[in-house]
Amino acid sequence: MPNTTQSPRLIYIVSAIAAMAGLLFGFDTGIISGALLFIQKDFILSTEMKELIVSSVLFGAMLSSLLSGSLSDRLGRRQVMLIISALFIIGTLIASLAPSVTLILLGRVIIGVAIGIGSYTAPLYIAEVAPKQLRGGLVSLNQLAITIGILASYLIDFAFSDYAASWRWMFAFGLIPAVLLGLGMIFLPESPRWLIKNNLIAKATLTLQRLRNKTDVKHELDEIKNSFNHQKTAFREIFSAWVRPVLFLGAMLGFIQQVTGINTIIYYAPTIFQMAGFHDASSSILATVGIGVVNVLATVFAIFYLDKLGRRPLLLTGIVGMGASLLCLAIVFYFNGQVSFLRWIAMGCTFTFIISFAFSLGAILWLMVSEIFPLEVRGAAMGVAVFSCWFWNFAVSATFLSLLHLLGPTLTFLMYTLMCVVSFLFCYYKVPETSGVTLEKIEANIRAGLALRDIGQPR
Ligand code: BGC
Repeated sequence: MPNTTQSPRLIYIVSAIAAMAGLLFGFDTGIISGALLFIQKDFILSTEMKELIVSSVLFGAMLSSLLSGSLSDRLGRRQVMLIISALFIIGTLIASLAPSVTLILLGRVIIGVAIGIGSYTAPLYIAEVAPKQLRGGLVSLNQLAITIGILASYLIDFAFSDYAASWRWMFAFGLIPAVLLGLGMIFLPESPRWLIKNNLIAKATLTLQRLRNKTDVKHELDEIKNSFNHQKTAFREIFSAWVRPVLFLGAMLGFIQQVTGINTIIYYAPTIFQMAGFHDASSSILATVGIGVVNVLATVFAIFYLDKLGRRPLLLTGIVGMGASLLCLAIVFYFNGQVSFLRWIAMGCTFTFIISFAFSLGAILWLMVSEIFPLEVRGAAMGVAVFSCWFWNFAVSATFLSLLHLLGPTLTFLMYTLMCVVSFLFCYYKVPETSGVTLEKIEANIRAGLALRDIGQPR
């Protein structure tokens, strides 16, 4: 084995296979937007039942995200990724073959359990196998995989919209990435960090040698061993006075990412387009494909510019863009029906909303929750932030259609606009700039008791 420092190809293969979990996250949450239009042709569905079908995945994800930390510590990251691939396969088979709505719900909850665990374990696994100079980019690739998964789900929705029992095919396509994830993980190594933590030093050495493509890995091994000296800690430490502010910040970021309404569009876009005046199912699904494309493109932009422009400028500009788009959407729905071109403006608003989200809250939430927590409490604290994100995702998606019925679209979108205003104020006053500063410096600033907004200060 050569003793070289070049970045080995294996690390990209490992990250790409692990990011398959992100792809499944995007695919299985996005697929429902089109599938819902067809499930209601086969079964009689009340508004509440439709919301339940959409949010069953989120319910499963919310519950399982709480267990993710201890599962991946106990069984190892690799084992957990193998288990979630099996859960994805089982859940998908049940949902796509389901003879009743109850079984669709069961299949979707199982898929949700897999998504919740994957949304925690995949970025963690990638971060742990990646060399530190590539870590930021590789972790953000997970968000890119989520958006590619959403786009793929919209394309499948569009391609199958003319088939009989099309929703079954739509769901069934999720089997491909699920099987690829499982097959891939069989050949991937366990995280060296987990091996060292469990005293499997010889195995960890061999794994690091393979991953780094060099024989001399002593320095990195020692670094990892040393980091555990500070890491023996109880779960309740995350509630101690010095950690509480960042824990609050993580939970708030999860809250803000969801209550500003992203998934009213991602999960219900065809429904919104139909409401705005695009009446046939396939043209509204096609417009939804457009949403998927700009979501991916704006995420690529974010990955390139997050470090150059900084998190805060992107975050604040994005939230303003989201708020303005929602306000415009509310106004359009107020006058809708009077002039037919308004539906095109409604469509434009959803596009600017998605672009604004993708380059701000979309990429930044998942990045920041892996940056702001001190090493000692990172696993458990990240679990709390991820849980918050799924909890609020569930709360918004499970109530959106009822709110539309109760308040009408104008007031509903005004409510999300208000959430953007509140979120902007919170981010303006509380969210730190974390680009260009080491995680160790952030931790030192937290320990020194700096205000939340200042914990990213380099000096
Ligand atoms: C969010 C999801 C959302 C997706 C859209 C993710 O960061 O957590 O809830 O559906 O972005 O791209």
